[in-house]
Amino acid sequence: MLRQIKVIPRRKIKFYPNEDLDILKAIFSPGFPAGSQISLFERVFSEYLGGGEAVATCSGRQALKLILESQDLREGDEILFPAYTLFDLVKMIEEMKLKPVFADIDPKTFNMSPEAVAQKITPKTRVIVATHIFGVPCRIQEICRLADAKGIMVVEDCAHALGAESRGRKVGNFGKAAFFSFSMGKQINAFGGGMIYSPDKKIIGFCRSKIFSYIPGKIETLASATTAYLERIAVLPFFSKLLLGSRKHVEFFIEFYRKTKNKTRAWNKSLSPLQSMIGRKQLEGIGKDLEIREARARLYRDLLSGNFLFQEVAPGDISANCYFVVRSKKKCPLGPLAQALIKAGVDVGICGEIMDHCPKALGVSANDYPVTDMAEAGNLLLPFYSDLDEKEIRYIAATANKMMESLSTPS
Ligand SMILES: Cc1ncc(COP(=O)(O)O)c(C=O)c1O
Repeated sequence: MLRQIKVIPRRKIKFYPNEDLDILKAIFSPGFPAGSQISLFERVFSEYLGGGEAVATCSGRQALKLILESQDLREGDEILFPAYTLFDLVKMIEEMKLKPVFADIDPKTFNMSPEAVAQKITPKTRVIVATHIFGVPCRIQEICRLADAKGIMVVEDCAHALGAESRGRKVGNFGKAAFFSFSMGKQINAFGGGMIYSPDKKIIGFCRSKIFSYIPGKIETLASATTAYLERIAVLPFFSKLLLGSRKHVEFFIEFYRKTKNKTRAWNKSLSPLQSMIGRKQLEGIGKDLEIREARARLYRDLLSGNFLFQEVAPGDISANCYFVVRSKKKCPLGPLAQALIKAGVDVGICGEIMDHCPKALGVSANDYPVTDMAEAGNLLLPFYSDLDEKEIRYIAATANKMMESLSTPS
């Protein structure tokens, strides 16, 4: 039976066919056309998205930092974030002497709600960071309307949302600028990396000139590539079986993913030509990848029981399905469920392993964010990637349904 054979990991890092060979060729071939790789990647990326300009960066974090630096922001200016997002971004804002402010999320989408945004806007609000969480588009047009009325800039956080669409347009095309991420677990894995995308010549010119003075982060890329290859080996059935056999495997999986978080990744470095080549080649396969992800997500939705709630995608919108996160309807601690699932060979994530409750992490009044509280306590991240097969999804859903049923506290 499946569960006796292996652990189904929560993520599998994406490599395109022949990527290993291409990497070796690029490293050892003196003829590797390094110079053109970055501008080529930027060009195909901007064509894919819809025609704005793109500037490659060493991370999504660095992309946001540069976009903000391109604005005339003063100490204490307010940057509005969803309360449920990556806390590292918030720390970065504080280091820039800006003030993070949070809007609660919508229980149906886990995205920042425009109603909460409207309540949190003050005369000091300069930027709204509108995140499309887990790949599901937020209500970006409403957020942009609110912002436009007050002269506030909207930056779209598309770290999870490459290829997602809202009302027929790819996300990234609604705000004044957007940023993407190519770190592990995203639709494109270039061993780290990011992209700034904007129609605004001033923003693009500023970011490009900054990046021009940076050198590629070779050590950082090597460290990230080493982790990616080790992870690729660790999730092979043989190794995961060894881990399953050890008493420490539950702790191992939980610790492993925590260690790959909380990194600054906004150094003054640029994306390397090799990373650009990998990014461009992975982008070539994105259409097919999105189709497969959509089919996987649909199967999960069909098979999981009524004890789980799914992220809602607005009619006409398209999710990029970066992660598959569900909310438990039962109000009980998910720790025991997660441990039982991992023991049954299904590696799942809970609480801060999925996303951060930023106001809580910052120590500001957490009582103002009831939906974020609910998401933090009740969200469950299930294994999700393109080569997760139908048999595995059936096993995961059946196991999760059975275990959820046996949890005693009803809603
Ligand atoms: C919502 C969100 N925004 C931004 C980022 C930053 O991207 P990067 O890791 O490339 O710096 C991440 C990273 O996972 C993220 O989850």
